[in-house]
Amino acid sequence: MAGSRGEFSSRFGFVMAASGSAVGLGNIWGFPTQAASNGGAAFLLVYLLLAFLLAYPALMAELILGRHAHSNSVAALRKVSGHRITGSIGALTGITGLIVAGLILSFYAIVAGWMIAFCLSALATLSGNAELANWLTSFGLWRNVLFLIVFLALTIGIVSAGVHDGIERWSRRLMPALLITLVILVLYVFTLNGAMQGLKVYLMPDFSRVLSPQLILDALGAAFFSLSLGVGTMLIYGSYVSDDENLPLLGGIVTLVDVSIAVLAGFLVLPAMYVALHNGVEIFNASGALISEDTLIFTVLPELFASMGLPGVLVSLVFFFLMSIAALTSSISMLEAPVAYVTEEHRIGRRLTAWLIGGVIACISCTILLNFDTLFGFIIALTTRYSQPLLGFMFCIYAGWVWRRDSLLQELRKGYPGVQEGLFWKIWPWYVKVVCPLIILAIFAQSLLG
Ligand code: TRP
Repeated sequence: MAGSRGEFSSRFGFVMAASGSAVGLGNIWGFPTQAASNGGAAFLLVYLLLAFLLAYPALMAELILGRHAHSNSVAALRKVSGHRITGSIGALTGITGLIVAGLILSFYAIVAGWMIAFCLSALATLSGNAELANWLTSFGLWRNVLFLIVFLALTIGIVSAGVHDGIERWSRRLMPALLITLVILVLYVFTLNGAMQGLKVYLMPDFSRVLSPQLILDALGAAFFSLSLGVGTMLIYGSYVSDDENLPLLGGIVTLVDVSIAVLAGFLVLPAMYVALHNGVEIFNASGALISEDTLIFTVLPELFASMGLPGVLVSLVFFFLMSIAALTSSISMLEAPVAYVTEEHRIGRRLTAWLIGGVIACISCTILLNFDTLFGFIIALTTRYSQPLLGFMFCIYAGWVWRRDSLLQELRKGYPGVQEGLFWKIWPWYVKVVCPLIILAIFAQSLLG
């Protein structure tokens, strides 16, 4: 173990932290809304396939690289390169990933800030302060800046406390709270009129859409975003896992938790949309398509909650609280990646680094807010649609081609002596080398040509 580096103290702690990273706004907001606008079950089906067949192997590439090097992503990619040139390209890939992680955090924090504001707005309504409640849910620069900073400060606070006392400790508390809240909400929505219609849309696939290139590209992006791939966040969490853990199993559990929560969130959001429709809230736009994305969570759901009277305020409180927690356990992993790099490579204290990098990210977020119409969508597309799959491709190339085979296999054996008898051993090394990069490229090429 590398001297003073942190380490997860238990398997449960790692699983909570890594699935905390994976489970976020992408699962509870992104996945259900994309499913809603991409033919419901058709999207679900493609997403499930891509999550297990592509995102899980890519996740393993990051976790194994991280555990092997017990260091940040830049050092890890350099370490497995035998040659100076591959070393430099690896370092460049790592650094690009860290920058992308920062950019992702800069828009993620804006959205997460809205979640906190909506949560507080429900509290304000409960305490009879309608004016405050209204301010909290109206799109204004000061509200946006304030809550973005509140959210980043929470993130920085946890990251500066370190791996064990910050990330692990908080993930262990927040993740179970998230799961329980989600289940309660799903059960509640099922009791409302109209829910069954939404359930039908979610579960009955429109097979004619399964092969649409746009749907596949969206599902790929959703799967990569959901598992936090391509920017070194999973690599850094892998680097805090001890050598005697069975990594393929842990990665499998994380994938399963992540996918299950996305699917579960679909059981909340799609039925809720149709409950809203039943209550007279508009969920189709002029051309007859479902409205989705931000409109869904920030207009449809609040209107639904409002149409439910007092219970609606409580549900709204719980729902946005849930979203805030989910966002927080994800944002800490985004900040951790660059913070680990700077503390390890430049020997600056963790607390100072976390505040410095967090400060830079806050500035970027404010820039986005000031140029919202041009920058917000652009940064999201740049980072999640293009950078993440391409960087994920590079991680697969490093695990599959650059890293010496015997060293990779030796790393696989650690913590799992019987690995050679299993399927993972036979399939994964070849899979991550050939299949993952090819699928990523193929989907990409198709989207460029189409
Ligand atoms: N996976 C998280 C979600 O679904 C977001 C996330 C955390 C992330 N860390 C990441 C996305 C790194 C991309 C890269 O919301």
